Amino acid sequence: MPGLAVVGTQWGDEGKGKFVDILAPRFHTVVRFGGGHNAGHTVVTGGREFILHLLPSAVLHPGVRSVVGNGCVVDPLAFFEEVEMLEAAGRDPSPDLLLSDRAQIILPVHRAIEAREEERLGKHRIGTTRRGIGPAYADKAARRGLRLGDLRHPDYRDERLAHLVAGHGELLGWSESRIAEEIAGTRELLDRFASRVLPLIADTSLVIHETLEAGHGVLFEGAQATLLDLDHGTYPFVTSSTAVAAGAAVGAGVGPGAVGRVLGVSKAYMTRVGEGPFPTEMDPEQNRTIQEKGNEFGATTRRPRRCGWFDSVVLRYARRVNGLDELAITKLDVLDGLDEVRIGVRYLLDGDAVEEFPGEFGALARCEVEYRSMPGWDRPTAGATRLEDLPPEARHYLDTLEELSGVPVTLVSTGPDREAFVRRRETGVFGD
Ligand code: IMP
Repeated sequence: MPGLAVVGTQWGDEGKGKFVDILAPRFHTVVRFGGGHNAGHTVVTGGREFILHLLPSAVLHPGVRSVVGNGCVVDPLAFFEEVEMLEAAGRDPSPDLLLSDRAQIILPVHRAIEAREEERLGKHRIGTTRRGIGPAYADKAARRGLRLGDLRHPDYRDERLAHLVAGHGELLGWSESRIAEEIAGTRELLDRFASRVLPLIADTSLVIHETLEAGHGVLFEGAQATLLDLDHGTYPFVTSSTAVAAGAAVGAGVGPGAVGRVLGVSKAYMTRVGEGPFPTEMDPEQNRTIQEKGNEFGATTRRPRRCGWFDSVVLRYARRVNGLDELAITKLDVLDGLDEVRIGVRYLLDGDAVEEFPGEFGALARCEVEYRSMPGWDRPTAGATRLEDLPPEARHYLDTLEELSGVPVTLVSTGPDREAFVRRRETGVFGD
């Protein structure tokens, strides 16, 4: 199998990490193509839970190459923390890990800018993860960012660093001595970072290209998700990178054809962390029930996730903007035991039916939802591995998701363990 992109179709936290973990051993290389340590990919393996933020989920599979692509932003402190966590678990990721020389560096000043901006926005804040992601991407676009490759040239790096911190420091109202202190502290951090990371920095676009040319499989691991995408998400309540499938090409440095198949991942219901409109959001009591059953607390920030019913308008939109070939549904077991389950079918905006996901923020906030309601299921789906083990009502629910979205639902996850999933239909993702 040449290329496969795995992308989230909702607001993130769909459980992409689990499928990447299952699929990784079948691929030569796994590439993260966007975002930074704002992601929280939870992988349960051997009864142990790992939460990865920055590194590809494949770091848990020795022998599979992990790449942090040029579309990513890398925080040195987050890098140290994650590598140390893995080392403490007996898994040194270095032999299989490469980072793009074109990836941007998140600096401490980026976190300071973001904290100030969120505070200033008050009730209009984005509700970011406060990891400095947005300001780092803003500096990339403004062409004043530092890239990992710059660590190879300390004089050039220091000149750009001083310029960048002085500019931001002025806007933050820092004194000259505060700015000088920030520059010195960041230099020291970058020196320490360079001594660890330089051997892992490469022209990863070339490495991926050669891997594909040699006929090996490359998995492009999405972070965040369609509705958090900078262009296609619920702007401005989005992240600052390209999270849709096309981002795999740009963020890894390959042509669009190399990305190959696109697997979307959707939760059996919806969740959202942070602010912004959420048409199918549940009432507070249902919200609490699903939050607790699904352990819906942010893997990165521990914030409670807002919960909602499955929204097929969103899935149809995700199908279009990602070019989804097939879909994995996760956390079906969290809906076990409910009397009724609901799926959002279309929106009503000022009384008119809306079939397509609106681009304008104000419109989405005003949309009401028309639901299809169906009976829930008593018999648990938790841990099921065969379609015939799912209760008829749960199978009907999956049939309905497929019918409403037009995307074949090929895989269904029924619990956190690696083994807990059903192959519902023939799938092209296993390469068999
Ligand atoms: P940022 O990516 O930290 O700038 O945050 C922007 C928005 O994206 C906020 O609503 C975050 O909660 C959300 N976000 C960023 N990464 C993730 C993720 O991995 N899962 C869920 N939400 C995320």
